[in-house]
Amino acid sequence: MGNSRAGYSLPSFNNLFVVVILVLYPLPTHVDSKCIIFNFGDSNSDTGALTSGLGLYLGPPAGRQFFHKTTGRFCDGRLYIDFICENLKINYLSPYLESLGSNFTHGVNFAVAGAATQMTGVPFPLSTQVLQFLHFKNRTRDLRSKGLGSLISEKEFHDAVYSFDMGQNDISIAFIANLSYPRVVDNIPSILSRIEDAIELVYENGGRKFWIYNTGPLGCLPQTLALRKKNDSELDLLGCLADYNNAAKAFNEQMNKLCDKLSSEYKNATTVCTDMYSIKYDLFANHKEYGFENPLMACCGHGGPPYNYADRITCGQPTATACAVGDRSISWDGVHYTEVANKIAASKILSGKYSNPQIKLTTLCRS
Ligand SMILES: *[C@@H]1O[C@H](CO)[C@@H](O)[C@H](O)[C@H]1NC(C)=O
Ligand SMILES: *[C@@H]1O[C@H](CO)[C@@H](O)[C@H](O)[C@H]1NC(C)=O
Ligand SMILES: *[C@@H]1O[C@H](CO)[C@@H](O)[C@H](O)[C@H]1NC(C)=O
Ligand SMILES: *[C@@H]1O[C@H](CO)[C@@H](O)[C@H](O)[C@H]1NC(C)=O
Ligand SMILES: *[C@@H]1O[C@H](CO)[C@@H](O)[C@H](O)[C@H]1NC(C)=O
Repeated sequence: MGNSRAGYSLPSFNNLFVVVILVLYPLPTHVDSKCIIFNFGDSNSDTGALTSGLGLYLGPPAGRQFFHKTTGRFCDGRLYIDFICENLKINYLSPYLESLGSNFTHGVNFAVAGAATQMTGVPFPLSTQVLQFLHFKNRTRDLRSKGLGSLISEKEFHDAVYSFDMGQNDISIAFIANLSYPRVVDNIPSILSRIEDAIELVYENGGRKFWIYNTGPLGCLPQTLALRKKNDSELDLLGCLADYNNAAKAFNEQMNKLCDKLSSEYKNATTVCTDMYSIKYDLFANHKEYGFENPLMACCGHGGPPYNYADRITCGQPTATACAVGDRSISWDGVHYTEVANKIAASKILSGKYSNPQIKLTTLCRS
């Protein structure tokens, strides 16, 4: 019970209602093919895997804005991927590691908070997430003949969208290890080659639609600013840490090249790369237009201005406090975006305008 998610499955009386309607008015035989998404990533798109996988409890006020309970999302409400699922009219993606109440008929979310392309404190790096997908595909195939499991067919695996949102933790780890900026940048090709390996393994196993995000402006996160800034001369015009954003931009330049390479190498496949950096940076740069007062200050944390972020007094700890419900903040807890920011990000992702080629996700998944 406690593990079921709000807004997730129809109440049983609705199912009854559907049955009655079906008897009276049979559905047309041609139904639009449904969208199926397999997502790989970190906390930006983790819908509860870290908490279920490690048995951690992410306490209030997480979830207060929408689910009204803790769901394992590092947010006051929905993530951008939740808004995408709403738009595609599919279930919110269950975390692969959640064994109770999950429903995988519309896909699986393999993303885990803290994950990177390399092993971190969280034992679910991108390579492991892809192996979990291959296991899931095998299990689905075995169980389908018995009418069990996700029931996703071979054709649906072929037609599904495979999305990847990785890189932020890899860059962040390099800085936390005190590598100099040039050394951080030197590390980027190996991060991208691990991302390429992951995508290639999905391609070899039949995936043909890839939706890839680049990484956001790490230097604008309240946590980065509070813990890593030593001198105001390190800041850019918006007050973000320039080196961190420059490293993200260097990563994204190489990500663009990888996207071009995959587009030309993968036959019969579509590779779409979406510029998450521009989408997120725009929130900070034009914060007034979106009604955000203190763009670099976390809603939930400790210490007040300028960043409201303090080590070990982070959101969810009893000693941390949150801004009033209804206040508009970009950052929820100093690292992750608020629901209201995620909603704006999702609408830009769905617009197709930030994608190369400019294909809409709705078009890609129904094609
Ligand atoms: C899973 O979700 C699908 C689509 O919403 C629904 O038809 C199905 O009944 C659900 N399965 C379970 C076991 O809840
Ligand atoms: C999936 O099954 C194939 C054989 O059908 C096997 O070669 C492969 O190793 C399996 N993968 C996983 C992750 O279980
Ligand atoms: C990085 O440098 C800071 C400040 O000099 C130090 O406190 C910290 O322990 C160093 N971290 C690592 C991983 O070496
Ligand atoms: C901050 O950086 C500037 C420019 O690099 C330097 O002149 C100044 O001494 C630094 N201030 C401190 C407190 O380190
Ligand atoms: C691409 O698809 C066509 C038609 O389904 C098929 O004949 C061809 O072998 C495919 N090419 C590759 C490289 O998979």
